[in-house]
Amino acid sequence: MNNSPIGVFDSGLGGLSVWAEIRRRLPAESLVYYGDGKHCPYGRKSAEEITEYAIEAVERLLSKGAKLVVVACNTATGAAIRTLRERYTIPIVGMEPAVKPAAQATRTGVIGILATRRSLESELYRHTSAHYAAGVEIVQSEGEGFVELVERGMSDSDEALSVVGRVVEPMLQKGVDQIVLGCTHYPFLKDTIRKVVGDRKVHIIDPSPAIAARVEQLLEQYDLQCDATNIATYRFISAADEEYVARIREFAERIK
Ligand code: DGL
Repeated sequence: MNNSPIGVFDSGLGGLSVWAEIRRRLPAESLVYYGDGKHCPYGRKSAEEITEYAIEAVERLLSKGAKLVVVACNTATGAAIRTLRERYTIPIVGMEPAVKPAAQATRTGVIGILATRRSLESELYRHTSAHYAAGVEIVQSEGEGFVELVERGMSDSDEALSVVGRVVEPMLQKGVDQIVLGCTHYPFLKDTIRKVVGDRKVHIIDPSPAIAARVEQLLEQYDLQCDATNIATYRFISAADEEYVARIREFAERIK
C-alpha cells in the first residue's frame, strides 16, 4: 500500500486529458499534475532542451512525493523517456502515437497520425511506425497551431475549425479511416476534428484510456496501489507563475 500521489507531466494543459482518464479509472489515487507552461509548446524544440525540461518536471514531481510518473506528453516521451528511465528508479510511463491500434483497425489501409513535429521526427516514432504499420499507408501531419489553440482556451472556436481543417482535410482526401491523436493536447480538439470529419466513417483514436490502464497495471506490479479508503487529493504545479497554475486547475475542473 502506498498513498503517495501519481505524478503526471506535460508541457502545458494537454496532459490533463490523460490525468482525467487516470482519475476516472483510479478514483482513490491522489494525483499531482505538473504543467510546465513556461516552455510550452515543446513541439518544435530540440530533444536536448525538452530533456532538460522533463528532468525538471520529474524532480518537481518527486519533491511532491510521486510514486510513479506519467509523461503525459508524446513529445517529451520521444525526446526524453530513455534518459528519464536511466536516471530514476520509480516506474515511468511514457506515451507515443497509437500507430498499432490504428494499423490493426483500418479498412481502407490508410491511417492518419496527428502529432507535433518533434514527435514525428523522433526515433521512437520512426521505430513504432516501421514496426507496426508495415503494409499500411501512413499520412502523418504536424498539428500546426493545435497546441496554441488549446492553451488559449479556443478549442471550440471558428478559428479552431479553420486551423484544424487545414491539417485534417488533406488527410481525409487521402482516404484515412483512422486518425490518431498523437499529442495529449489534441483530445481537447476532438469535437472540432469531428466537425471537419463530418459524416465520413473515420475513427478518432485517443490513447489516454490505454495509458490509465497501464498505470493501474504498474501500480499492481510494483505494489504501489493506495489504500481503497484513501481520499484522493489533486494538486497542480508548474514552472510558470501562479496564474498559470490557476488556469490548469480551472481547466481540470471543467473536464467531466
Ligand atoms: N502535449 C504534448 C504532446 O503530447 C506536447 C505539445 C507541445 O508542447 O508542443 O506531444
